[in-house]
Amino acid sequence: MTTASTLSTEVNRRRTFAIISHPDAGKTTLTEKLLLYGGAIRLAGSVKARKSQKHALSDWMEIEKQRGISVTSSVLQFDYDGYRVNILDTPGHQDFSEDTYRTLMATDSAVMVIDVAKGVEDQTKKLFRVCKQRGIPIFTFVNKLDRFGKNPFELMEEIENVLGIRAYPMNWPVGIEGNYLGVYNRKLAQIELFDTEGAHGQKVIPSTVGSVDDPAFAELLGEEVYQALQEDIELLDLAGDEFDEEKVAAGELTPMFFGSAISNFGVRPFLEEFLQLAPPPLARKGVDSAVAPDDERFSAFVFKIQANMNPTHRDRIAFMRICSGKFSKGMAVKHITTGKTIKLSQPTQFMAQERTIIEEAYPGDIVGLFDPGVFGIGDSLCGDGLSFQFEDFPVFPPELFARVQAKDTMKRKQFNKGMTQLTQEGAVQVFRQPEMAIESYIVGAVGLLQFEVLEYRLKNEYGVDIELNHLGYSVARWINDEALKTNIKGIDSAMLVRDIKDRPVILFRNEWSYNWAKEQNPSVNFMIVPK
Ligand code: G4P
Repeated sequence: MTTASTLSTEVNRRRTFAIISHPDAGKTTLTEKLLLYGGAIRLAGSVKARKSQKHALSDWMEIEKQRGISVTSSVLQFDYDGYRVNILDTPGHQDFSEDTYRTLMATDSAVMVIDVAKGVEDQTKKLFRVCKQRGIPIFTFVNKLDRFGKNPFELMEEIENVLGIRAYPMNWPVGIEGNYLGVYNRKLAQIELFDTEGAHGQKVIPSTVGSVDDPAFAELLGEEVYQALQEDIELLDLAGDEFDEEKVAAGELTPMFFGSAISNFGVRPFLEEFLQLAPPPLARKGVDSAVAPDDERFSAFVFKIQANMNPTHRDRIAFMRICSGKFSKGMAVKHITTGKTIKLSQPTQFMAQERTIIEEAYPGDIVGLFDPGVFGIGDSLCGDGLSFQFEDFPVFPPELFARVQAKDTMKRKQFNKGMTQLTQEGAVQVFRQPEMAIESYIVGAVGLLQFEVLEYRLKNEYGVDIELNHLGYSVARWINDEALKTNIKGIDSAMLVRDIKDRPVILFRNEWSYNWAKEQNPSVNFMIVPK
């Protein structure tokens, strides 16, 4: 029996977050270094070695191995300083997918990795937007400080201008550009210098910490560097924002850290301060009310479904995020969508290529469930005494479209079955043209990789080769049936389709043609997501 105090202790020590970045900013490297500092791995291999020989810790499917990328999101868990850390891994490839967005629904905060030379890049912007909509705290880790890059003040300004969020540097790089030696901790007024000599970042590195006023640092750093640091500190204190925990919690101020994931420089100070500042699991909203994490009645929602994680088992795993109460193996829960009671008998946790059967878990934790085909994205699961429906998952507007049909028309049945199941899983979004032959679908995605995964899985799991033709549309807008009855102008080059719930959607070639149609039809409500 869990006492109320055990439950709230377990809740309060949980930190569940995702790392977001544009490809190549160093997300994989930072994740690996957090695992190293958390003691979950003993030696960090270089990313290069991992990419060419094996594959990242979270690689699952054959397609991932072939391309050396991570397609699906999984969870990495470790303990540090009394905290139980859950890192929700998000695909790191350019062709990211809806899974990346959905994973952000299950996190309590996000860490945004920025390349010091490149600043805020495209994909970071998209992912940031989803975090911002959820109002979760966003932390910034400026990476690759071992290289020449933008000036830290310039980066603060860029974050504000491009993302619309103020940045509060928690620490500040010490040294000269391209050759930083350490960081200055603003709260403690301490300098920490890292010894990266000959370490190659495989192991935890030593460092020297002391007060900024210690004359030894002035001597060590040299007059010029020391002076420049003093000036930067003064400027930050005078012209920068005040630190405001409430603004951080609301996602309006991003605590900013500096480091170099490859050499471990700045990793420990980041991890420690981040864990203190990042929120534990908080109350989650439902359709009519909210559920507090320390409510003893169990609740969770499914945020991702993944098929065939192990080709020898041919199975489907539904990932649930626990929101309240204690989970124990074998417990019976109510599946709110169908009203059925389901026994959760083989809960697993994923780390590297291993599956561990877990006995118990708490709010903030992610548990993989064997799914005989009953779960859908966004489903609510509740324990005894609770009948709670979490808020609907948002639909993420697709930006890429293709027409898909089976090469062999004899395989129509398998093709339809595969398309239905993969749509349920949320692998792609499916649309139909009203007059379209039953044998073909229009699929929408947010990343190109989703098409590749669709093609691969239809072939490998359903034995169907498909013909996939990309369509030249990039903007989808939902409208209501009433609007459809009016004569909508300026949509000659667009395509009218219906989504899986039969709601009308117009696919436009580009933003320009969408804006043109919007101007021509001021009374029509073009919706970015269905209402
Ligand atoms: P991602 O998951 O965000 O896509 O990035 P990932 O960690 O894979 O890092 C992308 C590249 O950047 C990697 O190089 C990695 O070694 C390098 N990198 C990561 N962190 C740092 C850092 O702090 N400093 C420097 N200088 N480089 C960093 P790669 O693709 O393997 O190329 P290469 O290292 O073989 O040239």
